[in-house]
Amino acid sequence: MPVIKTHNSSGTLVVTISRPDALNALNEATMNGLRDVIQEAYQNDTYRGIILTGDGEKAFVAGADIKEFTSLTKEQAFELAQKGQSLFKLIEDCPKPVIAAVNGFALGGGCELAMACHMRIATENAKFGQPEVNLGLIPGYGGTQRLAQLVGRGKALELILTGDMISAQEAKAIGLVNHVVGTRAELDELAQKIMDKILTKGPLAVALSIKAVNAGYGFEKNGYQAEAENFAAATVTDDFREGTTAFIEKRKPVFTGK
Ligand code: COA
Repeated sequence: MPVIKTHNSSGTLVVTISRPDALNALNEATMNGLRDVIQEAYQNDTYRGIILTGDGEKAFVAGADIKEFTSLTKEQAFELAQKGQSLFKLIEDCPKPVIAAVNGFALGGGCELAMACHMRIATENAKFGQPEVNLGLIPGYGGTQRLAQLVGRGKALELILTGDMISAQEAKAIGLVNHVVGTRAELDELAQKIMDKILTKGPLAVALSIKAVNAGYGFEKNGYQAEAENFAAATVTDDFREGTTAFIEKRKPVFTGK
């Protein structure tokens, strides 16, 4: 199973993305599994909060699964972006607190997933970035919107246009990450400690706080539609075919701007 659920006595649901052979990249099965778990968490009163993490110590999530990109039509790409956007919005709008415990690479869809959570805690070895441009692509699961919301437009554009990976400490300095700790064990401990504190508060006040904060960042006020359209437009270019093929063939892409 690419999405593992565990539940502890505090009422925390720990959701672990687990595809170790692909650095926990989000393929279709993983996205579907994640949606099922989040929908269940909305409905099941046993779960009072969610900690979202990646299996192991190397990767949180290394992005959408690039190997599933190779045969996409423009229409399918648009649908894929909308599917990712709606799943991540479901996470963002969850009335129960959602903490991302980022245990390694959080790239592309992984960074977007972490940003959809209500806060982010990371280990020192975690790396953040939106490297889609290296594939001739753009972020498609809300990254063009949430990164700008979290770190400001200038820094967001620098990260999206360069595709640079930044360290957990740099991510903390620009406001992308709330706290950085040394080890995986410390990560799990701090995530639970923050969750336990939130779980002592009134659940309705927590839910209403999330709703009120999110109201300022509604879908209709933002460029999510434009993101999905431009994500789809990028997938019919030669550059996208070259970028994804080069990744799979483990070589540098040669872009022509076509
Ligand atoms: N989609 C599909 N497979 C992925 C993946 C992704 N996003 N990220 C990593 N993998 C796979 C690799 O293809 C490799 O598989 P293989 O062993 O069958 O060749 C395996 O995971 C391990 O990755 P590898 O690249 O060998 O590890 P590394 O330590 O050398 O590099 C990264 C780690 C994260 C820098 C590198 O994997 C990477 O750049 N990944 C893609 C990140 C990205 O562009 N994400 C956005 C996608 S839109």
